Amino acid sequence: MAYLSTDKVEHHHHDVVIVGAGGAGMRCALQLAEAGYRVAVVSKVLPTRSHTVAAQGGMNAALGNVTSDHWHWHMYDTVKGSDYLGDQDAIEYMCRAAPQLVKELEHQGVPFSRLENGKIYQRAFGGQSREFGDGGQALRTCAAADRTGHAILHTMYQQNIKAGTHFYEEFFALNLIMEDEACHGVMAWDIGKGEYHLFQAKAVILATGGAGRIFKTTTNAHICTGDGGALCLDAGLPIEDMEFFQFHPTGIADVGPLISEAVRGEGGYLLNSEGERFMERYAPTAKDLASRDVVSRAIALEIREGRGCGPKKDHALLKVDHLGEELILKKLPNIHELALRFAGVDCTKEPIPVQPTAHYTMGGIPTNRFTEVVKQSETASEEEKVAGLFAIGEAACTSVHGANRLGGNSLLEIVVFGRACGHQVMKWLKEHRYHKTINPDAWQAGVNRVERWLDQDNQADVKVSQVREQMQNLMQSHFSVYRTEDVMQEGVAAIEALHHDIHKASIEDKNRIFNTDLVEALELENLMSLARATAASAAARQESRGAHARDDYPERDDETWMKHTLASIKGDKVELDYKPVRTIPMTVESFPPKKRVY
Ligand code: FUM
Repeated sequence: MAYLSTDKVEHHHHDVVIVGAGGAGMRCALQLAEAGYRVAVVSKVLPTRSHTVAAQGGMNAALGNVTSDHWHWHMYDTVKGSDYLGDQDAIEYMCRAAPQLVKELEHQGVPFSRLENGKIYQRAFGGQSREFGDGGQALRTCAAADRTGHAILHTMYQQNIKAGTHFYEEFFALNLIMEDEACHGVMAWDIGKGEYHLFQAKAVILATGGAGRIFKTTTNAHICTGDGGALCLDAGLPIEDMEFFQFHPTGIADVGPLISEAVRGEGGYLLNSEGERFMERYAPTAKDLASRDVVSRAIALEIREGRGCGPKKDHALLKVDHLGEELILKKLPNIHELALRFAGVDCTKEPIPVQPTAHYTMGGIPTNRFTEVVKQSETASEEEKVAGLFAIGEAACTSVHGANRLGGNSLLEIVVFGRACGHQVMKWLKEHRYHKTINPDAWQAGVNRVERWLDQDNQADVKVSQVREQMQNLMQSHFSVYRTEDVMQEGVAAIEALHHDIHKASIEDKNRIFNTDLVEALELENLMSLARATAASAAARQESRGAHARDDYPERDDETWMKHTLASIKGDKVELDYKPVRTIPMTVESFPPKKRVY
C-alpha cells in the first residue's frame, strides 16, 4: 500500500472537529462557534440532508401547555420506557433541561405549531403519563406539524452559518487520530475531489447518527451507516448495548419509510385482519399509545398468529381517515404524502399498511452524561475517559433510552446533549490549548482503507452490494422483533463468516472524483462492524427487556442482566464485557425496577 507523505495530505487545524451535521452536531457546533472557537463540521452529506431532517412527530418537554406536566413525570416515563436499563442520572439531566431547550429552539427560529392561545402545540405520544403513571396521558410532545426534525435541522444550519462554523461537506471520516490513548483529530476523504484531509483538533466530537442500515427494512436513510461507532471499534474502543435496536411499529409495509407515532397521538389506531383494535388486548390502558417495544411486539404476534393483513398476511393497518381531511392535512401533511408515494394510499380515505421497521439505535458509543467517551479501565472495572473524544446524539449511548426509547426523546436528546457537550468541551479546551504534532503513521490506516479499494483489480466476483444485501437480510431474519437462541447463534455464525467477504469484494469504479462506489464500500465496512457487535451482544443476553424480546427467555431478569453490554473487536473477534446501570439520579430518588404495564 502506498505510504502517503505529508505533502499529499491537506492539513487543517481547528479547536474542535465534529463529525456529523445532524441536530446534535449542529447544536454543539453553534454553541462553540458562538463562543469564539474555531469549529469544523465534517459531514459526508450536505448538512441539511442529515437524517435529523426525517424526524417527524416531535420533541418531549414537560411544558404543560395542554395537560398539567412536570419534568419528574417525564423522567419516570423515560426510566419505565427504558425497561429500567437507562442511566437515571443522565435521564434526570435530560428531562429537567427539556423545557428550557424547547424555548431556546423557539427563540432560534424553529417554527413550532401553535395552540389557539399562541403557545407551542403539544401532542400525545407513546408511553407518556402524568403523576407517575396515575394521571392518564400527558400531552408532552412539541411539534412542528409532522416535520419537526426538518424545522430543527434547517434552523440549526442557518444559525451555524451566521455563527461562522466551518462546514466540510461531502467529506467521509476514515479514522480517528489516536496517540497516547487520546484523540487528536480525524482523517477524512474529500468525496468530491478525491483528496485526503487531516483535521487536527483539541477535541473530537462524534455525532454521526444511527446504524439502521444494518437491517433490510428500516426507516433510516441510506446514510445511516453507524460511522462513528465503527471509527471507535477500529480504534479498539467498545460500543454499548447494541442488542437494543428499536423497531418502530409503523413503518410502511415492505418499504420502510416512517409513519409517525403522531398519527396515533392524534387519534389513529391499529387494526388486524379481523378489523379488531387489537392493542386493547395488549395494553388495556394506553392501547395504541403504549411504548414502542410493546406495540411492535403486539403487531408481530398478530402477524404470527395469522391475523396479519394483505395477501401475505404480513402487516397491520393504521386507520387515520376518521380524523378527517382537514386535521390530516394540517397536522399530518408529511405522512399523507409518504403514504401516497410509498404505499399508494390516500390516508384520508383508506388505512395505511404498516409493520415494525428498524428505526433507532439505542446503543452506541459509550459516554457519561457529560458526553465524554468512556471505556472500561484495563486494571479495574470502573470507567475511564478517552481523552479528547466526545459523542452525542444517536451515535452515542449516553443511555437515556436504555432498552427502549420513548418517541419524542430523540430530538430532545440531540439538543440536550449537544449543549452538554458544548459545555464540557469548553472546559476541556481551557486546559488543552495546543495541537499535538501528529505522526504520519496515525493517518495511514485511513489512507489504506481507501487505497485498498482503488488498487484492487476487478477479478473478484463478489460485489459490495451483494455483501450488503446478505448482511441486511441476515440481520433482519435473525435479530428482528422476536429472537431465540438457535436463530441468533446461526445469525452470529453467518455474519462472522460474511464479514470476510468484504476482503473478497471489489468496486467497479476506480476513479477518485465523486466515487460513490467507493463511499458505499467504506460504509459497508462500517455497517459490518456494527452488525457483528449487534449480533454478538444480542445472542449473549438471555432475558427479554425492552426491544430485546426473546421467545425462550420471556421475562426480564434484573438479578443477572441489569447491566450494559460493551462489545469490542479484538483481533478478528467480537469480545463482550459488561458494566453496571447507573441507577442513582442526580438529585431525586431512584425509580426501582417494577413490572412494566401500559
Ligand atoms: O414516530 C415518530 O414521529 C418518531 C419519533 C421519534 O422516533 O422520536
